[in-house]
Amino acid sequence: MQVVSSKEALSLPDGETVIVRGWVYRKREFKDKIFVLLRDREGIIQLVFPQQIPESQIARKLNIESSLIVEGMVKSDVRAPGGKEIHVSKVLWYFIGEPFPINEYAAQADSEYLLDVRHLWIRSRKMWAILRVRHTVFEAIHEYFRSKGFYEVHCPIFVSSAVEGGATLFKVRYFDREDVYLTQSAQFYLEALIFSLERVYTIAPSFRAEPSRTRRHLTEFWHAEAEMAWAGMRDVMRVSEELITHVVRKVLEDRLEELSLLKRNLEKLELVKPPFPRVSYDEAISMLNSMGLDIKWGADLGADEERALTQKFDTPIHLYGFPSVAKAFYHKDYPEDREKPLWERRTLSVDVLAPEGYGEIVGGGERIEDPEELRRKIREFGLKEEDYQWYIDLRKYGSVPHAGFGLGVDRLVMWICGLDHIRDSLPFPRDIRRVRP
Ligand code: 4AD
Ligand code: MG
Repeated sequence: MQVVSSKEALSLPDGETVIVRGWVYRKREFKDKIFVLLRDREGIIQLVFPQQIPESQIARKLNIESSLIVEGMVKSDVRAPGGKEIHVSKVLWYFIGEPFPINEYAAQADSEYLLDVRHLWIRSRKMWAILRVRHTVFEAIHEYFRSKGFYEVHCPIFVSSAVEGGATLFKVRYFDREDVYLTQSAQFYLEALIFSLERVYTIAPSFRAEPSRTRRHLTEFWHAEAEMAWAGMRDVMRVSEELITHVVRKVLEDRLEELSLLKRNLEKLELVKPPFPRVSYDEAISMLNSMGLDIKWGADLGADEERALTQKFDTPIHLYGFPSVAKAFYHKDYPEDREKPLWERRTLSVDVLAPEGYGEIVGGGERIEDPEELRRKIREFGLKEEDYQWYIDLRKYGSVPHAGFGLGVDRLVMWICGLDHIRDSLPFPRDIRRVRP
């Protein structure tokens, strides 16, 4: 006798005898039979226990989330989810669970409680669907980069300098040293690796001591980062839009059931195709001002500004040419701005903003290849050259134009799934208040 998944069982002809196993999702008792919806990794199948067989004694005792293995016969029934059910003849194994502490119907009521019992809530249909989409998102990212000749590399998590500014660094106790932190981005290591492999990528956790609790910030997030030799800002636009399109297409192909369970509006995702509209920072500021938002040239865009901007477009957009003062020191300035003071310069930087109000999912751009220019920028930002000694070193021995970007994978999953909050895009989210479970 073969063990089959719920999905396989639904595809078998009537009369086949099979073994299925899983957890009790729902149970209804009638005079002549007991229905149990059994869930497993692939979905849900209905089990029917006739009251006259001794096994129905066991079925009666099963609480929600109890686990069991049964043998039975496949039979069509239009009323069953998926059109088939299994008429149970034998219970081969079972475990009667204690009363399950989550009622999925009432679940939305208290999201803090659901975070407390996250280790159990990940069994819910919603999290099941999201986790399967997330699986496909990671698969598609690897698939894209590898098909384009990027080498996968792995960079350290313990680091000793800031990439994205000191304010969000997590310091760690590292023997007797005072200068060790959790990485904010693998970027500098990827920059070093292009001198060996030219095109590299990595998918790894990044850490930010984000002091505020927002819908789109985690303290630990998954970062897909790429770096390319012989490349500039336009290449970052092309590669990031191809990557995002590839991921969205693959999810639409492989995860329709999950997206519909999440009630995702598929039409919005079907609109995603390259090239994404390109909007300069200067244009964005005038657009925002004409929409009545009071933002001055030089300021970074916050969630409100991004939401307003993305409302004007149906697809993701590239927002490029941010002021130098609004971006990290490593961004290369527009060559024509080079003689201007820092606060008037623009950078060859680009963010991708996701539509429907989701906002920034990618940040990247062209890097400074000239060692003198890099030193100047480090000084202008009030940073210490000695903290970036090896990073400056990269420019001394065969420097090349290069560019790269970082994609926040949790934010991508959040947008693709249409979630209200980033914490639902991964199983065990970390934020300012929560490191458990
Ligand atoms: O824009 P960011 O800070 O850029 C960098 O870290 C560059 N060094 C990347 C690079 O060029 N290699 O972060 C990149 C992306 C953001 O666009 C966002 O999607 C995500 O990482 N991100 C976060 N996601 C969740 N929670 C946070 N606290 C995040 N901070 C950044
Ligand atoms: Mg950014």
